[in-house]
Amino acid sequence: MSPTAVPATRDRLRIAIQKSGRLSDPARALLASCGLSWRESRDKLFCYGETAPVDLLLVRDDDIPGLLADGVCDYGIVGRNVLEEQAAERAAAGKPQLSKELLPLGFGGCRLDIAVPDAWDWQGAAQLQGKRIATSYPGLLGRWLAQQGVEADIVVLSGSVEIAPRLGQADVICDLVSSGATLAANQLRPVQTIMRSEAVLAGPVQPFADIRGELAQMLLRRLDGVLRLKDSRLLMFQARRDEVPGLLELLPDAESPTLLQVDGADTLALQALCHGAMTWQRLEDLKRAGARGLMVLPVERMLA
Ligand code: PRP
Ligand code: ZN
Repeated sequence: MSPTAVPATRDRLRIAIQKSGRLSDPARALLASCGLSWRESRDKLFCYGETAPVDLLLVRDDDIPGLLADGVCDYGIVGRNVLEEQAAERAAAGKPQLSKELLPLGFGGCRLDIAVPDAWDWQGAAQLQGKRIATSYPGLLGRWLAQQGVEADIVVLSGSVEIAPRLGQADVICDLVSSGATLAANQLRPVQTIMRSEAVLAGPVQPFADIRGELAQMLLRRLDGVLRLKDSRLLMFQARRDEVPGLLELLPDAESPTLLQVDGADTLALQALCHGAMTWQRLEDLKRAGARGLMVLPVERMLA
């Protein structure tokens, strides 16, 4: 075996996450909320799992799809944009897809947009015919242009794409937009969304046949539990029996409400897991509809 060869089986799960950047802290926090913890290594590139045989690899986000394809890591938390770009490039090169998106993770939301100089009068994709478009996403942009039937010159840049029009390298750009601040600072305006992105869990197309299969199931189950509870709260209140149907109408997001009888037949205590945000406005609406002693409690864990 050559020193770089990757063993076909492993008894620990290896998850790649972004070393530093926008997805880095939320990715670690999400995995920590799944009960995972790590011993920090001195080089901080590999973190050995303490509470479960799940190790972390801290890498550049753009490297994650390749690490998955090579089997160096088993799962990755990466922007859909990065995953899809490399899938588009693999498809264009006739290579098979070895990893895929398994679960959207609800953070790191952004868009891949075409943005034009403020002064442009945007009239649609046809306007891009023959233009130079700077991007770090040639695969996704190329696919979109082909769908639009537009031929343009794709200028591939690995960063600082927004400055390309001012430097005369390109006419327009295609880049990620989150708050829009970077575009605005460069006198550019988003005109067309090519794709919506967020952080996702990426993993193998085929499930693992070794112990990693079980570890992966545990990870997915816990992630599912954590994500489902994101905005969820336990709502408790009391109300008169005849007011309960009206109150339940105000709680379309309540999961199997439990009703308990208290002092005599007329008062009921209600308890329900609600998945939508429990704002003050909602509580006031419930109170007006007859709810008393309203309480909203955080839910720490759930195992369906
Ligand atoms: C991204 C992206 C844009 C910017 C958009 O870069 O490439 O430049 O964020 O964010 P905004 O709309 O909130 O201004 P990032 O800072 O992640 O650096 P990178 O491109 O070097 O990864
Ligand atoms: Zn990046």
